[in-house]
Amino acid sequence: MIVACMKILRSVRVLAAAATAVALFGTGVAAQTIPQYGENRHLGVTSCAGSTCHGSATPWRDSTVLQNEYITWAQKDRHAKAYATLRTERSQRIARNLGLPNAHEAKVCLDCHADNPPPDKRGRVFQVSDGVGCEACHGGAEKWLGVHVSGMASHEENIKAGLYPTEEPVARAKLCLSCHFGDNNKFVTHRIMGAGHPRMSFELDTFTAIQPAHYVVDDDYRKRKRVANGVQTWAIGQALAIQEILDGLADAKRNRDGIFPELVFFDCHACHHPMSNVRWEPRSGTGLGPGIVRLNDANLVMLRVIAGHLDNALGQKLKQETIALHKASTQGAEATLAAVARLKATTQGLVQRFAQHQFGANDMQGLLIGLVKEGMSGEFVDYSAAEQATMAMSAIVTSMKRAGVIDDQRYNAMKAALDKCYDAVQKDEEYKPRQFLAALQAFEATIPKS
Ligand code: HEC
Ligand code: HEC
Ligand code: HEC
Ligand code: HEC
Repeated sequence: MIVACMKILRSVRVLAAAATAVALFGTGVAAQTIPQYGENRHLGVTSCAGSTCHGSATPWRDSTVLQNEYITWAQKDRHAKAYATLRTERSQRIARNLGLPNAHEAKVCLDCHADNPPPDKRGRVFQVSDGVGCEACHGGAEKWLGVHVSGMASHEENIKAGLYPTEEPVARAKLCLSCHFGDNNKFVTHRIMGAGHPRMSFELDTFTAIQPAHYVVDDDYRKRKRVANGVQTWAIGQALAIQEILDGLADAKRNRDGIFPELVFFDCHACHHPMSNVRWEPRSGTGLGPGIVRLNDANLVMLRVIAGHLDNALGQKLKQETIALHKASTQGAEATLAAVARLKATTQGLVQRFAQHQFGANDMQGLLIGLVKEGMSGEFVDYSAAEQATMAMSAIVTSMKRAGVIDDQRYNAMKAALDKCYDAVQKDEEYKPRQFLAALQAFEATIPKS
């Protein structure tokens, strides 16, 4: 192992220089299998963590990759603690409430709180107690570890051998969402929430940024891998989230706890907020009156801003079909499924479209203006939309800074205004739409005028 890892350092550098441009994002990756369901054996974190592989105490100076990925993951990344979470009192209580013997052996919990391939796909030193380990994201290493360690394989070849393309925004979105939203095999239902599981929310670019990075995007990295900017990452994440949500709404397996749709598809705060905090206001985007449980449409609001920026008619259509979905949800299952199917058809292909669009300076500014406009028209009175919008604006502002669209002074002003938006969404149960709106107005004033 030691010798082999030394070799990779030399040969990867040569290969990297020869690497050619990769195909456009999104081509073919939609079919990529999530590591957990892949055909290759998972060898376990120990197989990646050797001190001359990815377990060095400090980054290596002449390596293309840092080599201390394991340390970053083990010490700073919540994924390394995901299994330990299942042994806490809180998890034991959730398990008890669900009638499970315990949480740390329950498949329903392990599927997201660990790398949990089927028993015949586990190597000799594999341990589920490692939590969400390297191979939960990078793919079962059975076929690629050898060639990868020998240093003889290019990134493309590693991917052919089962390395999951985590740098690819579409594939990454699919991967992260499989646990951070769920898929047709694993899902946090309202029954699990009711037993005590926390609310989940996700935005691909923000979560990529807050997962402690065990890689550095530098010139060398850019030679080996194509890098999506934050705005594109955000857009793709939203388009894919909508697909997952629509598939979830249409999935009979995930809608069998009595009420249809399953309660997790609704806006949690439509039911869960103190009755003394009276805050209902009409929203043109739902068309619903007071006292009606609303579906959580935060991702749809984001999506129509992005789609509408590229194609105004499409944005309008999405808005109309979202309103139709809200209405249908008050009319019963048949109407709801029909509205879901219409939205599914309208949003088909958006992932690919965003994957192939270069999101540039004009887009960044246009999208910020589009987001603020939704807020000004009252669409962020619901917490989850305000939360998504805040993460979105933050992703865009960071991208503007990175792309040199705004200078330091402008960035600092925008960032300070954004901090006020973050303050307003800090505690979901204490959310005050007016406070958010005021913060949004102040933020609007900092957007550069073209
Ligand atoms: C196998 C399931 C799984 C996959 C895949 C996964 N996560 Fe997670 N993630 C979790 C779990 C479970 C937690 C919570 C861990 C805990 O605290 O117990 C978590 C926590 C996080 C957190 C910390 C959140 C917080 O509130 O501080 C971030 C950030 C995060 N994940 C980002 C990502 C990103 C980005 C991806 C995709 C590259 C991803 N995750 C893929 C399961 C997963
Ligand atoms: C579909 C994936 C999924 C399933 C299934 C799932 N979880 Fe989670 N869980 C997550 C994610 C993702 C987070 C982190 C949420 C965040 O911070 O954004 C989390 C967070 C938690 C937390 C809070 C951790 C903390 O420190 O804040 C607990 C406790 C927990 N889960 C327990 C369980 C138990 C017990 C089960 C089984 C009954 C379970 N989970 C099933 C994905 C899942
Ligand atoms: C929650 C998902 C997740 C987990 C768990 C995870 N990674 Fe990663 N890893 C990523 C993402 C996302 C990237 C950035 C995109 C890319 O370069 O593929 C990345 C990048 C890398 C890179 C590429 C660096 C480069 O310069 O090309 C290496 C090496 C790596 N990870 C090793 C590890 C090791 C070793 C572990 C376990 C100790 C691990 N990762 C755990 C998601 C994860
Ligand atoms: C249609 C209304 C409705 C929606 C929407 C809803 N819930 Fe609930 N929730 C309930 C009811 C009713 C209970 C049971 C309360 C009780 O037993 O006292 C409950 C219980 C809970 C509990 C347990 C509370 C306790 O006292 O132990 C949690 C946590 C929870 N829900 C989270 C969520 C989350 C997160 C969402 C959004 C994904 C959500 N709920 C959406 C109605 C709703």
